[in-house]
Amino acid sequence: MNILLLGAGGREHALAWKLAQSRFIADEGGTLYAAPGNPGIGQCTTLVSLDAGDHATVIAWCEAHSVDFVVVGPEAPLVDGLADSLRGAGIAVFGPSKAAAQLEGSKGFTKDLCERAGIPTAGYVRASSLAEATAALDRFAPPHVLKADGLAAGKGVVIAETREDADEALQEMFGGVFGAAGTEVVLEEFMEGEEASFFALTDGATIVPFGTAQDHKRVGEGDTGPNTGGMGAYSPARVLDPVLRGDAIERIIAPTVRQMAEEGMPYSGVLYAGLMLTPEGPKLVEYNCRFGDPECQVLMMRLESDLGEYLYAAATGSLASLPPPRFSADVAMTVVMAAKGYPGTPEKGGKIGGIERAEAGGAKVFHAGTALRDGHLVAHGGRVLSVTQRGQSVAEAQHKAYLAVDEIDFPTGFCRRDIGWREIARESA
Ligand code: AMP
Ligand code: GLY
Repeated sequence: MNILLLGAGGREHALAWKLAQSRFIADEGGTLYAAPGNPGIGQCTTLVSLDAGDHATVIAWCEAHSVDFVVVGPEAPLVDGLADSLRGAGIAVFGPSKAAAQLEGSKGFTKDLCERAGIPTAGYVRASSLAEATAALDRFAPPHVLKADGLAAGKGVVIAETREDADEALQEMFGGVFGAAGTEVVLEEFMEGEEASFFALTDGATIVPFGTAQDHKRVGEGDTGPNTGGMGAYSPARVLDPVLRGDAIERIIAPTVRQMAEEGMPYSGVLYAGLMLTPEGPKLVEYNCRFGDPECQVLMMRLESDLGEYLYAAATGSLASLPPPRFSADVAMTVVMAAKGYPGTPEKGGKIGGIERAEAGGAKVFHAGTALRDGHLVAHGGRVLSVTQRGQSVAEAQHKAYLAVDEIDFPTGFCRRDIGWREIARESA
């Protein structure tokens, strides 16, 4: 079977690395293509130049290259309905339909669905004008949680400590800082607790738990400074003990999958639940309709089963026929190396060396934002590399991950040196 993977980041490099090991590719002679990919993805796939926004061209290309299965990495093409177009042409797709991708594409949609299905989440109000939103602020005590309804590349959430900050943020949101994503805003009750991510594969009926992780969203050490897409992650998230995992499936994931199917929008693909562990149990913070980046890197580092089989089964309604996936008991950690300036304007073009040295010690260096210029690997994006290692404890995984980071020669880059601190403090307590 020939497979096409869409995307260009660290998440897609991790998916490509595991898909290349799948029996479909490694044993049965299939070809793994990736578009547009990056230099790291190019080491384990055949790169092609395709615009995921041009559905007709993607379909024609798949037909011309006998591609029977497309794996969509990022959320934007899913929210845009690419999976529907491909399925309409008889091509299997890993990733939800446009209707089902609303779980990520519209925060208001998800909150309403939670209400209809009785899923635990923060109280909320949807507002489609500044006046409505400002009036609704009175219903919540600070800190005020304000979210642009649509996709905003991870930047659409504002936590305002004071009423004044909230007023100002609402003015900016309705003034268009998030473009069309901010024409509607969701105001939420603030939830107190530790956050963790839970991943489940589903084909619309069967649910297969697919690992847990925690990430560090802030750019600075000690979880300070502006938010980013994620500066590092580790898996498993041990705070999600078996009881909490059971709770999350029973009270959040399963009712979501059931409700979506009942309402004629069956969800297939990966459901990535951001959870808040509150004194009343896990509550849903948000859903994503794709794997996390960099959470995917640590999941793939631990996955021992054939990724291709699971993704294909999710796409074709046959997850019930597979045994539970196997994950290594090891901890995996990834440290993101970003270009100076990130999450503002990152410095482009800085040279990168030493990846082979870093990998010689067992690390896997996933490319996130890299390019080749005159034969040199250079930075080409905010998050540039995702340096991933395994260990028997979080402390060991961290120690080995930073040994690998220290082999990398990337003068215009930086990373946090404290990924996993919370878990390491718990380990040594
Ligand atoms: P989201 O994009 O919805 O995941 O929000 C980004 C981040 O904002 C989350 O990871 C949380 O840290 C925080 N956040 C979102 N909603 C809430 C909430 N209702 N209460 C507390 N923190 C929240
Ligand atoms: N690392 C957070 C995300 O992928 O949304």
